[in-house]
Amino acid sequence: MNTAPAAALDSLASPVTGHPDWIWRNGEMVPWAEAKIHVNAVGHASVSAVFEGIKAYRSADGSRLLAFRLDEHLKRLQESARICRLELPFDAAGLRAAVLDLLRANRYREDTYIRPWAFPTGVIREQMVPAGALCEVVIDTWPFHSGLDKERGCRAAVSSWLRIGDASTPPRVKAFSNYHNGRLAMMEARENGHDWPIMLNERHKLSEGPGACIALVRDGAVVTPSLSSGVLESITRATALTLLEELGVPVAEREVDRSELYLADEVFFMGTAWEILPVTTVDGLRVGTGRPGPVATVLGAEYTRLVRGERDRYADWLTEIQIQDLYGGEG
Ligand SMILES: Cc1ncc(COP(=O)(O)O)c(C=O)c1O
Repeated sequence: MNTAPAAALDSLASPVTGHPDWIWRNGEMVPWAEAKIHVNAVGHASVSAVFEGIKAYRSADGSRLLAFRLDEHLKRLQESARICRLELPFDAAGLRAAVLDLLRANRYREDTYIRPWAFPTGVIREQMVPAGALCEVVIDTWPFHSGLDKERGCRAAVSSWLRIGDASTPPRVKAFSNYHNGRLAMMEARENGHDWPIMLNERHKLSEGPGACIALVRDGAVVTPSLSSGVLESITRATALTLLEELGVPVAEREVDRSELYLADEVFFMGTAWEILPVTTVDGLRVGTGRPGPVATVLGAEYTRLVRGERDRYADWLTEIQIQDLYGGEG
């Protein structure tokens, strides 16, 4: 089995070494080395900070970068800010222009990860940053390597840490502080020799992984926890459900018991960073044949075609940046 080791899987979601030339900060392009803040900003200010994770893929013909579902990601950033009562000083159009300007400025030709985030700024000494506090918006970018072009799988384990819930710390918000929960689960999984945790919610039903939603396949039908199961409203999950419908695969969004994981023919994660990532073992039990199954494989292939601009039907989901633009017309 060609299972990628945990370190290789980490690289899908983590910054590579090196940095871009430019960071976008509050409406300006700032050289990397000058994008600094005071130490005071690293503390309670970060509790309410919100962010997004977006990808721009190089098109199959190599002529363009295609930012995937950019508007939906920026809308979710605004929704996260709203729930956290942060006032973003930029609207959706301003943020969209900022992302595109930054991609051009950093002259990326390859697959690129885009990380906008917003945090209360200034001298923050309160434990509870007040609602409506002045906010900074920053955007970072870095290259990533898509895992969609090779067979991969990961070993997952159900965590003893429960997923945070809407009644305490809404997982619907993409806040940095929510990742404390996922990190505890991830460290436990690694300690026990697995790659990634699967988390149950407060009702002890399936929720999601620390950085991706999850689905399983039973008797040819896909089952995924509903959006009120303690999950982020994932854009990859929504995309996958659309593609599965098109492929004629039945999908149910419902509560899922832990024990269903052990009976599944396939289990896979869905997320911007992890893309479509098959799970080959759950709690040490082999899933299906122990290799990526047919549904995840076909879905991964369709997802690749879509994000690389080979599906005209979904052209609205892709924001084009001509590679020539990135090189100031030099091609
Ligand atoms: C906790 C969590 N769930 C799900 C997802 C997947 O969301 P999306 O497909 O929008 O990237 C992410 C990805 O950022 C995540 O961090």
